[in-house]
Amino acid sequence: MARGKFITFEGIDGAGKSTHLTRFAELLAARGRTVITTREPGGTALGEKLRELLLHETMHLETEALLMFAARREHLAQIIEPALGRGDWVISDRFTDATFAYQGGGRKLDRQKLAALEQWVHPHLQPDLTLLFDVPLDVARARLDASRELDRFEQEKADFFEATRAEYLRRASEFPERFRIIDSTRPFAEVHDELKKLAASL
Ligand code: TYD
Repeated sequence: MARGKFITFEGIDGAGKSTHLTRFAELLAARGRTVITTREPGGTALGEKLRELLLHETMHLETEALLMFAARREHLAQIIEPALGRGDWVISDRFTDATFAYQGGGRKLDRQKLAALEQWVHPHLQPDLTLLFDVPLDVARARLDASRELDRFEQEKADFFEATRAEYLRRASEFPERFRIIDSTRPFAEVHDELKKLAASL
């Protein structure tokens, strides 16, 4: 049985990745793949409890990074690794690139510390494909639903998101073989068309 593919969706808050994720999973399923969609932080019962803390409790920056990786360890053990081993495809709404972008870029935590945690938690696994939904900050801010309460990350200032976006783009140029940058300023249908072609090529 061939190992499944591991695909991650990334981008700053408001970039529009989550809607496309659901549609992309449907496209792959229509092509006969067994697809599991999941998210970080979260994806397991314990991970979802950690997500609650991460999104709403004030904490030290290193606690935040450690909890992201703790949730990820559980996610890998319970969901991601077994699914890939069965030959299923896994699409995750965020993974380790988000920690580099948010805790590293946005909050300025030393990249070496994050690299050490990555090496500990998943030394041999990287996504096969990472779709980076990229939009300028003003577009992303305008898309955040004003009617709901913003979480700890969404409440951050513009320079935090500029730095987060810059780190995402830096990683995309560091790992061009797995990253694909999706210009998410375009209308939904246009982005969907691009994803349709991509799904057909996988
Ligand atoms: P998000 O994925 O945007 O979910 P929703 O669409 O429900 O708001 O929310 C998760 C938040 O967690 C997002 O602001 C980014 C942040 N995050 C990190 O800071 N580091 C990480 O490693 C991960 C996975 C997420």
